[in-house]
Amino acid sequence: MSSIEPVVLVHGGAGTISSDAKAAQLVQGVKKAAQAGYQILKSGGSVLDAVQKSVELMENDAIFNAGLGSVLNVEGEVEMDASIMLGADLSAGAVTVVKDIKNPIALARLVMEKSDHVLLASEGAKKFALKHGITPLAPGSLVTEATREALAKWKAKQVAALAELGTVGAVAIDSQGRLAAATSTGGREGKLAGRSSDTCMIGSGTYADDGVGAVSTTGHGKTIAKFCLAHSIIKAMEGGQGAEAATKGCIEKMTKKLNNTAGAITLSCRGEVGVGFSTNRMSWAYQKGDEVHFGVDQNQHDFEKI
Ligand code: GLY
Repeated sequence: MSSIEPVVLVHGGAGTISSDAKAAQLVQGVKKAAQAGYQILKSGGSVLDAVQKSVELMENDAIFNAGLGSVLNVEGEVEMDASIMLGADLSAGAVTVVKDIKNPIALARLVMEKSDHVLLASEGAKKFALKHGITPLAPGSLVTEATREALAKWKAKQVAALAELGTVGAVAIDSQGRLAAATSTGGREGKLAGRSSDTCMIGSGTYADDGVGAVSTTGHGKTIAKFCLAHSIIKAMEGGQGAEAATKGCIEKMTKKLNNTAGAITLSCRGEVGVGFSTNRMSWAYQKGDEVHFGVDQNQHDFEKI
């Protein structure tokens, strides 16, 4: 029936990312994540399997602010949020303020598939994880030397050293036009204990609808949540805009209205790609056929054959 070219598109977080060396590492990481998700599709996996795989890879890589390497709250702890959504029937799952879970995105998917809820929080989410075969890590396992140092700097100067880097996410479309989106974050450095982010909010951090498209966002959480950025992009596409115009247009509107920054990745139901960010940089990559496309700076779009 359909002749859509499958695509897996990922982002590694919008932010200042002032170090070129770090930007290069992030680009390597997102390229790997996009390719891993794409391989899942190629080997017969679902779009949910693909976005989960891409996000898990970034959660396991301490360079990203999700899973291992998540920024620390003001009490020095990792508390993470994640959400996942399937475009076919709008089913969605999310977790918030979860500690010591290696892959929060896997837990969000379990909430979607094995509970009657959309969002589980904190200790309840941990109990649910245990019940469904996810054993929490030893307390503090996701804290790294870099995040400890960054929090110390933040406490000294109230300057966010790592919050210059956001959330991770992935969107995917298969040859049948099925869509999924997934997003995962450690949140913002120096946040209060118990703070939930836009990333766990369906419509702000994540959205997927097979009739329109799929979106994952990153950036200033309070701003993204107030603007419902992911769903705003969906609405703009429903109104006839293409993926790129809707993504860039909504981010520009949000940034003008609320004076804060964000980024997003989007796939339309026709497989068109949209990438936009009002931050200095955002690492992103996608695989389509035998090409991997990627970038990190404004107006950068490189690609290579693999
Ligand atoms: N967008 C992630 C956060 O603000 O926590």
